[in-house]
Amino acid sequence: MITLITNIKELLQVRNLPIRKVSGKEMNILPTIKNAFLILKDDKIYDFGEMDNLPKIKADKIIDASNKIVLPTWCDSHTHIVYAGNRESEFVDRINGLSYEEIAKKGGGILNSAKKLQNTSEDELYQQASKRIEEIISLGTGAVEIKSGYGLTVEAEIKMLRIIKKLGQNYPIKIKATFLGAHAFPTAFKENKDAYIDLICNEMIPAVAETNLAEFIDVFCETGYFSVEQTERILKAGKKNNLIPKIHVNQFNSIGGVEIGVKYNALSVDHLEVLNINDIEALKNSQAIPVALPSCSYFLSIPYTPARNLIDNGLPLALASDFNPGSSPSGNMNFVVSTACIKMEMTPEEAINAATINGAYAMNLSDSHGSITKGKKANVIITKKIPSYNYLPYAFGSNLIDTVIINGEIISNKN
Ligand code: NIG
Ligand code: FE
Repeated sequence: MITLITNIKELLQVRNLPIRKVSGKEMNILPTIKNAFLILKDDKIYDFGEMDNLPKIKADKIIDASNKIVLPTWCDSHTHIVYAGNRESEFVDRINGLSYEEIAKKGGGILNSAKKLQNTSEDELYQQASKRIEEIISLGTGAVEIKSGYGLTVEAEIKMLRIIKKLGQNYPIKIKATFLGAHAFPTAFKENKDAYIDLICNEMIPAVAETNLAEFIDVFCETGYFSVEQTERILKAGKKNNLIPKIHVNQFNSIGGVEIGVKYNALSVDHLEVLNINDIEALKNSQAIPVALPSCSYFLSIPYTPARNLIDNGLPLALASDFNPGSSPSGNMNFVVSTACIKMEMTPEEAINAATINGAYAMNLSDSHGSITKGKKANVIITKKIPSYNYLPYAFGSNLIDTVIINGEIISNKN
């Protein structure tokens, strides 16, 4: 099956030489081809270039993209898409003055979602998560990471990971799984936190490794959640079982979690709304990619990750949605890109790099996703007719996507 896209106003994120991520000043460079063609063969990118150099080719399908922009699909490296129901009552509590942390202390927050999830069947949870996956695909996401962490028992954590695996089998986008048993302390362990760390290290992690249900391990390292010492124990046990660390860190406080993430070679360090100079220095000496979650800052009215500070220090940055019921009930990466430009002083070039190639890096997917490169997955967004790519973040809230193609197949065409 060959699909030829012609007359593309501008083809974005064209990388002839495969790259893994972009950092610092490079983030402001977005290579493009104007008046371009793109050829997709089966599920891969086959060829691209200027229209003047269009080769003679027999295509099964031709799409005219006059006045439209084509770019790789979004790579959303941080979500919690498998959850039961919603938490809109906590949303109203926050409007009425309670903070996210106060709600959590009252047994709301993550524990509220855990109770709901434990009492919901695997089938029902799968159905709820499917709708969210279908929505994010229609919004241009072509690869996504999903975490467990609303189970908080061996059984319920494994249930979540089985659902993530099934989603990956049934949907065409790439789905990566992360074990996040260390998301919150269950009420039963409130007085004996070490026992929960034992449960994670001695039972949950071996069960996850044995069933091969996750590639990554994550910990919510934060005051009132998991301390730096507890985080270290968990990452150590994860590493022993070949789980690659990722970490929720510095959302509300800088407590030394960034250093621990770096020490254990975390692939990504996520949130970073609160950053100090030691955190920046630690990140400079690592391969870990910082991941900012602007929808979470927007929804909780907390500070935005200081993107300029990170990028101006030569660091890379990825953007992700954090889609979850408590701090970001939205998986819309178009909104994420807009908000990064509007609130985090990122340029459109930086934001698009952060949501494509750098998002792919944060999921270990740079070899197959995140750029227009021959041989990579044929995952592209075709926009509606728009004046330039700057219009994507500028016209926030408008759906500017015309067509999403995943593995060479048109998924949604909303005209
Ligand atoms: O990434 N911060 C920890 N975990 C999620 C929120 C989870 C929840 O509130 O349900 C986050 O923001
Ligand atoms: Fe999260």
